[in-house]
Amino acid sequence: MNTELRGCVAGISAKVPLLQGEKPYINFDNAASTPPFVDVMRAVNDYIPWYSSVHRGNGFKSRMSTELYEQARCAISDFVGANHDEHVVIFGKNATEAINKLSYRLRLTKRDVVLISHLEHHSNDLPWRARATVKRIGLTPDGGISKTAYRELLQKYGGRVRLVAISGASNVTGHIPDIHWFARKAHSAGAQIAVDCAQLAAHRPIDMKRLDDPEHLDYIAISAHKMYAPFGSGALIGRRDTFSQGLPEYRGGGTVDFVTPKQVDWASQPDSEEAGSPNVVGAIAMARAAKQLQAIGMDVIAAHEAKLIAYALARLQEVPGVTIYGDADPAGAHTRSGVIPFALQDMPPNLVAAILGIEWGIGVRSGCFCAHPYVMDLLGADPNHVRSHILHDRRDLAPGLVRISFGLYNTTTEIDVLIQALTAIADGHHAAYTADGRTGQFTPIGMEENFSDYFAL
Ligand SMILES: Cc1ncc(COP(=O)(O)O)c(C=O)c1O
Repeated sequence: MNTELRGCVAGISAKVPLLQGEKPYINFDNAASTPPFVDVMRAVNDYIPWYSSVHRGNGFKSRMSTELYEQARCAISDFVGANHDEHVVIFGKNATEAINKLSYRLRLTKRDVVLISHLEHHSNDLPWRARATVKRIGLTPDGGISKTAYRELLQKYGGRVRLVAISGASNVTGHIPDIHWFARKAHSAGAQIAVDCAQLAAHRPIDMKRLDDPEHLDYIAISAHKMYAPFGSGALIGRRDTFSQGLPEYRGGGTVDFVTPKQVDWASQPDSEEAGSPNVVGAIAMARAAKQLQAIGMDVIAAHEAKLIAYALARLQEVPGVTIYGDADPAGAHTRSGVIPFALQDMPPNLVAAILGIEWGIGVRSGCFCAHPYVMDLLGADPNHVRSHILHDRRDLAPGLVRISFGLYNTTTEIDVLIQALTAIADGHHAAYTADGRTGQFTPIGMEENFSDYFAL
């Protein structure tokens, strides 16, 4: 194991309580949120004494904070291959906010068609449904986005397709579509493309390319808490010309040049798009994380994670009763991201996740991962049946999957512990649990948890 990679992350040696005893935590839930980089924590701590309001303040700390905030913008622009002439970096709180903002700023109507894929996270689905006519690109048998279905939709809806909005990497199966191929096809059909890079940014290099390149990306969204910088920031990076037309969705302080009772002169972008006081600390943290990812090398990260993926896919298949969803071939590890969904026998996914967390100190996620249509499809489940469980507070009966997801600091030794745990669970070795139908969560009978032994406000 590359100990340098492991040492990049804070809290790596934290022990967590188990049903019996304590153990170093194994975090296989990086697709939800990654732990912070040590370097990010250091940057935040070092900056905090200098923190002050940005823009308009004349004091030294304000001037310095303003300068750092704008430097953070440049760092993010550089990280995603954007350029100042053609793109603008708009800070916000996360990828969901970024996509919602874009859906408003494109001034779509229900006449406009937005093509999304069937594997999208709800955050790259529901905002488009609210503003345009959404058509879903179907999937290949192993859960990837079908290029054939995409071509057919582009042809069928011709000039009505304003935007193609797809994931850079799936948060369910780790599928990585060839986004630049999708971009070329979108542009040749007269559409633009937005890529939800929430699951891509910490795992692969992103290159938006110049606008005269047919493979450029018009817009992308990222979240810092998935990039080792959990300080409440995210960004929408997109073509400048879009934001120089129309009006901002959120209005107020910071968005204007001058206001009279009857008239508003809007500020230029990105200020017009960042209403209110911005999250300076979050922007600095995200920029620091981007620089750290670049310093480690996205190719080094991708190679390390591919090793973990290949190893995990091979070893999971040794566990009796494990079914892997999506592409399960270890040979394809370098073509996808480190998100692996699986089921264990016919056990409820939330029960498997609870046992892993409570008896083994392994953090995973279970359920449908904010991608209900995709997971229903992968499982071949009847959505009406599942919906009825959920609406009747029997979430414990709702089908779903267990998901492991890797970060750059995970190791094959940790995967060995997971395999040992799953093998034991498959053999029936675990405590007795009760289910809560309303939350869908499983808890060992008689367990009490006291978080304040570990941290209290
Ligand atoms: C693919 C994808 N898109 C968007 C999001 C939303 O990210 P956030 O919750 O940071 O807004 C997620 C979060 O898991 C995701 O996995």
